[in-house]
Amino acid sequence: MAPLLALLLATVLSAHLVLAFPGMDSGALEDQLARRSFNMVHRPHTKRTDPFLSLPALNIAGIPLPISVNYPGGVTVGRKVIPDSSHPFQNPPSGAQRGGCPGLNLLANYGYIDRSGIVGVGELLWALQEATGWAPDLAGAVVALGFRSTVDVTTMKLSIGNTDSRTSGLFTSLIGGTVPGLFSAAAHTKFETDGSILYDDAYFTPGGTTSQFNATLWAQRLASANSNFGGVFGNDWVGQTRFDSYNYCIQNNPQCNWMAVAQVLFYGAECLTYLNFPSSNSDGTIGSATASVVQTFMGIAAQGSSFVKVPESLPPSSDGHWYRRSTGITLAEGISGLISAYSAHPVVFGSNNGATNSFVAQGTPTQLQGTITVQAVGCMILNEINENVPGSFNNLVTATLTPLIAALTAPGMLNLGC
Ligand SMILES: *[C@@H]1O[C@H](CO)[C@@H](O)[C@H](O)[C@H]1NC(C)=O
Repeated sequence: MAPLLALLLATVLSAHLVLAFPGMDSGALEDQLARRSFNMVHRPHTKRTDPFLSLPALNIAGIPLPISVNYPGGVTVGRKVIPDSSHPFQNPPSGAQRGGCPGLNLLANYGYIDRSGIVGVGELLWALQEATGWAPDLAGAVVALGFRSTVDVTTMKLSIGNTDSRTSGLFTSLIGGTVPGLFSAAAHTKFETDGSILYDDAYFTPGGTTSQFNATLWAQRLASANSNFGGVFGNDWVGQTRFDSYNYCIQNNPQCNWMAVAQVLFYGAECLTYLNFPSSNSDGTIGSATASVVQTFMGIAAQGSSFVKVPESLPPSSDGHWYRRSTGITLAEGISGLISAYSAHPVVFGSNNGATNSFVAQGTPTQLQGTITVQAVGCMILNEINENVPGSFNNLVTATLTPLIAALTAPGMLNLGC
């Protein structure tokens, strides 16, 4: 086992040891720990400043254009009905790209990003905050991750589904041709990775596609929520689901990939079921992540005794509207969620070696050091994003992208004290 993971595991286990002492309320202690990490990063403010209004432009040698992210800005603050009147739901137009991320598909279905699913980085950065209700630190970090081989830096466009030449421009040949779509086979294990809630692993699908809906798999997720977690798709359900996926992956997928950092992030992404999918209440709390909420957001409809995939839409509250949260989901919240989910069933990161049950632990990822705190995990992720600026591009592009990635991850770095 990699030393840092051993350390991480030891920390988790010792935390559980402490929790086992009689007279100690484990829930209370966990709350205290969570609150302590939040206090550490909490920077109260009354007015939202938009950190992305002055993103650096890129001057890539050989390309006679300064390339800019074209960020529209103007994100509204507070609880709000989404969609607004200028963003009605529409089924994806023919030829549109959709992928394995329900939130991105949903943004396109409401036109918060281009309905074609071919998206400018700036509009995505805006939409994640305006429509999905993410705080700048979370939106910036996730968009920065997209640069991991899936953004055409000459057009600043990406495809939220498969590879699509509509992301390309006049100068794309200078970076080696059309970039892979976020959920294309070529991007597998970079952004998208194994162990999805409702899609088959790339290994099992024709051409390695990563958006093959599996109704049996979904039925199992639902049964798990119903029989173990009172029908709620909360953090406990996420922890169990990730553990189920891990075991299934190792036992059935010869190429099972459970490597940090992509898999660490996946724990956080699955926490969006309860952090992001339900409509928020007027008192600032968020609704319960019931099956109906999660299925609507993920685009799953019952058909007889089985399920079919339908376009993702926003699950309405009792008055018919979906409300964005009053405060944006922060990176710290997502990371706190992933730590709890991971800690419920701590596993070793690594991958299968070409055969089922051939799992090999990952080599030492030196980023993950110290104790398992929001700060440690958050800074590990942000540092990794900054240190591994797009490997598939040539060095020139990497060098010019570095300040942009730094600017996108700066809010997270600041808030987490990295
Ligand atoms: C769909 O999921 C079920 C349950 O995990 C699994 O047994 C089946 O092999 C999956 N189908 C494919 C094509 O991977």
